[in-house]
Amino acid sequence: MRVLSVVGARPNFMKLAPLAHELTRRGTSHVIVHTGQHYDADMSDSFLESLTIPKPDFNLAVGSGSHAQQTAAVMQRFEPVCLETKPDIVLVYGDVNSTVAAALVAAKLGIRVGHVEAGLRSRDWTMPEEINRVVTDRLSDLLFTPSRDAGENLRAEGVPAERVHFVGNIMIDSLVALLPKARKQNGGAHEPYALVTLHRPANVDDPRKLRELLDALAELGHERKIVFPVHPRTRARMEDIGWTNGNGERAGVHLLDPVPYEEMLSLVLGSDLVITDSGGLQEETSFLGVPCLTVRPNTERPITCIEGTNRLVAAERRALVDAVREASRRSAPPTIERWDGFAARRIAAVLCEDARFD
Ligand code: UD1
Repeated sequence: MRVLSVVGARPNFMKLAPLAHELTRRGTSHVIVHTGQHYDADMSDSFLESLTIPKPDFNLAVGSGSHAQQTAAVMQRFEPVCLETKPDIVLVYGDVNSTVAAALVAAKLGIRVGHVEAGLRSRDWTMPEEINRVVTDRLSDLLFTPSRDAGENLRAEGVPAERVHFVGNIMIDSLVALLPKARKQNGGAHEPYALVTLHRPANVDDPRKLRELLDALAELGHERKIVFPVHPRTRARMEDIGWTNGNGERAGVHLLDPVPYEEMLSLVLGSDLVITDSGGLQEETSFLGVPCLTVRPNTERPITCIEGTNRLVAAERRALVDAVREASRRSAPPTIERWDGFAARRIAAVLCEDARFD
């Protein structure tokens, strides 16, 4: 049995790590391909390091570009790797461009495809990730879902039940593994702060909307400290509109470079509230019981609103400021079914022993 995993962008790495460790523990042959969609040290290497992911066997170095350019570059460079390594199954993770590109290549070569984090749906076709999710699931032979709603989405789309395995949320495996280190880094008492991440094209690519969101943060910065690790896409757009934190009006907003995974976890642990448009943070805050405001009109992770600590908020200055002022305090962390640190074991059992998880 030879498994080949394809990852490329920051949110993929925490989904790969637990499975890479589990396959190593079992002695299963596992080839790791990094597409190079993310390439800055603080978007890629720092994550591989914190998560102790083995050095990828191949780096396709595709870099940035339009969606078509990036997807096409992954396809062109990944096909020869499949021909050379002859995997029994190609595993793809999440919903980034590298995910759909690799799934297309494998499916057309007649190699089985497994999708880790299958079945999530925002039903918002303007999101590039939604297109990636739907197409990847359609191409997959094994669909590993993080929550029951994901399985229901797949059933409604006619995916045969025997392909779908409810294995739980693999990102929580990584979180559980690194929590003790993150708690140590967090180090206890400090000035209260809200943690912010924003990088969705819908929020940051439109200068008017970006300015409105940043002005909301500046207003909130008078009331409480705001800590904001800035994604490179967002950093570039902020520079375009000439927004820096500097001092004066915006002094309460502390801009950081992207931070490594365990430092991010430690920032979440220490925060009173998270404001984000990330997918992963909606889940991490829910697991930890930290209130989360997601600046989006919808989410592919409804369980975080129903069972977790997440609430959607419109990308408008007043709405965001009011929502932060009303935000509920930290609650006891909820228990979400199969968000328990054992998702990777279940996936490996499906791959290696034909186990079933309904
Ligand atoms: C991608 C994913 C998104 C995910 C996000 C997490 C797609 C369609 N989008 O969005 O789902 O939430 O990653 O970070 O796959 N850049 C750098 N250095 C890097 C990487 C990117 O400077 O290491 C800059 C480049 O200017 C690039 C821009 O960020 O053009 C966007 O990168 P890209 O990978 O296209 O999309 P993300 O916004 O990161």
